[in-house]
Amino acid sequence: MRSLAVLGATGSIGASTLDVVARHPGRYRVGALAAHRNAQGLAALCARFRPELAVIADPACVDELRQHLRASGTACRVEAGADALVEAASGAHCDTVVAAIVGAAGLPSTLAAARAGKRLLLANKEAVVMAGSLLKAALHAGGGELLPLDSEHNAVFQCLPRERGSLAGAGVRRIVLTASGGPFRGRSRAELAAITPDQACAHPNWRMGRKISVDSATLLNKGLEVIEAHHLFDAPAERIEVVVHPQSLVHSLVEYIDGSLLAQLGLPDMRTAIAYALGWPQRIDAGVGTLDLALARRLDFEPPDLATFRGLALAYAALRAGGSAAIVLNAANEEAVAAFLDGRLPFLAITDVIERCLDELPPQPTSDLAGVLDADLTARRHATRIIAALSA
Ligand SMILES: NC(=O)c1ccc[n+]([C@@H]2O[C@H](COP(=O)([O-])OP(=O)(O)OC[C@H]3O[C@@H](n4cnc5c(N)ncnc54)[C@H](OP(=O)(O)O)[C@@H]3O)[C@@H](O)[C@H]2O)c1
Repeated sequence: MRSLAVLGATGSIGASTLDVVARHPGRYRVGALAAHRNAQGLAALCARFRPELAVIADPACVDELRQHLRASGTACRVEAGADALVEAASGAHCDTVVAAIVGAAGLPSTLAAARAGKRLLLANKEAVVMAGSLLKAALHAGGGELLPLDSEHNAVFQCLPRERGSLAGAGVRRIVLTASGGPFRGRSRAELAAITPDQACAHPNWRMGRKISVDSATLLNKGLEVIEAHHLFDAPAERIEVVVHPQSLVHSLVEYIDGSLLAQLGLPDMRTAIAYALGWPQRIDAGVGTLDLALARRLDFEPPDLATFRGLALAYAALRAGGSAAIVLNAANEEAVAAFLDGRLPFLAITDVIERCLDELPPQPTSDLAGVLDADLTARRHATRIIAALSA
């Protein structure tokens, strides 16, 4: 039986993970659950899944968590704070860690899980974008394994040969990541000027957290995924392509040197990728229905509109620039998206903030976690100043 730590348990990926887990009571037990501030939601999950450890990242919410646990008669160890997330990812209560915290906040616990040799089921793409090399070194040192949860990377993983992990020697010509195009596909920049947070979060095919939904709308999400694919599969930028596929049924493809193009298809439901990673190398039931191709009728593909949705081009530029550029891209995006969701920044200014940060902060080498966090903080401060000036 596998023991899981689900970090980001109260989020969209957390909910899908626990849905799959609940379908296989004899196969998985939950050792730890963690959230940020949603004490009530976390307590409800603890009452249902009975973990040994519950972690709330914001210490101001720990009393509320304890009250809810007491009220439901749930006994488990309770810890609070960022260090407790690292403990939840690396302690003996789990052999598998689902890294589903959103944003840079997930980096230390993701690295800790890798260092501790856990099986790492990775949704927290921002951690890979910021510190892909450190993560690979930590995985190597810990002796564990990484299984991607992002549907595109999970699809690529499924289409690579069994001894995957790298394109080297596998006869792969290129990786093709599919993108839905987001809720504003086909619109001009002028039509995007007055977009509201709720419009940006209304994704046509996927139900996700608000930050990744906005990233999908700017195509920055696909840019983060290009950088993620670069690290996960040792693929240079020029061998990772993006194609817009509005139906979100083909989740990504791998092209081989003989011209074969292998794709993974399925309904747009994250439980497929999660079940694949949970069960690997076996297949387990995900609770996902059949994709009826005759009913779907069409699979459309088109090139991305890089002029209107500049997030993808900026991510390619950051990947090619190297050093801390991807950290700057990610930090500037997190600050700009938070400002947009708070009503402090217009939608189109998100990529303006990222572009200015990339222009004004030259890439620096980063060799350890302290260096990564330092570059992250510098970029956040710079982005915050730009946002304040833009919204004044
Ligand atoms: N949703 C998808 O379909 C999908 C697909 C592919 C990849 N991903 C990736 O998966 C990650 C999670 O996405 P999501 O859509 O599940 O996000 P979400 O619904 O917003 O959930 C985020 C989770 O992270 C927790 N969290 C936020 N800030 C935290 C902090 N500082 N410390 C500890 N925990 C924190 C939240 O806790 P509270 O509830 O307490 O705030 C929540 O449990 C992201 O990196 C995203 O890019 C998501």
